[in-house]
Amino acid sequence: MIEINPSLYELIGGETGLRSLIDRFYDIMDSFPEAAGIRALHPKSLNQSRDKLFMFLSGWSGGPALYQQKYGPPKLRQRHMPFSIGVIERDQWLWCMNKALDESQVHPVVIEQLKSRFAEIADFMRNKE
Ligand code: HEM
Repeated sequence: MIEINPSLYELIGGETGLRSLIDRFYDIMDSFPEAAGIRALHPKSLNQSRDKLFMFLSGWSGGPALYQQKYGPPKLRQRHMPFSIGVIERDQWLWCMNKALDESQVHPVVIEQLKSRFAEIADFMRNKE
């Protein structure tokens, strides 16, 4: 049968595409002054952050539910409570992700879709004025 309804996971390029997107996202967070505020909230090594975001987005985009299998229900808002996240932090996160997406091989139409979905999730993560 012809696949006519690919998942976001497939449109991002499966495991390889998602890995490279997330690696670029954290490389950007790690190296641009524009993201220094949120970089400081993260541990010294970003290895676990890379793995966790990869596992979460795998299931979220319609691929293997790796995060859920290992850690249970994501409860992302609750898990972000220890970190002070306002408009500035939200916008820094989105700046990194949007830049990583713009540099990726993902189709522009899919990039626009992802940007608006991430904007919603990042806004939901705010826990201070
Ligand atoms: C809005 C701005 C955000 C900030 C400042 C932020 C910051 C953080 C920090 C400091 C951590 C803990 C370190 C780590 O485990 O990596 C974390 C964990 C995590 N973040 Fe975010 N984050 C934001 C938005 C998002 C969004 C939009 C997503 C999903 C699309 C996301 C997904 C995750 C995941 C899956 C984890 C691991 C949770 C766990 O198992 O502990 N974050 N984030």
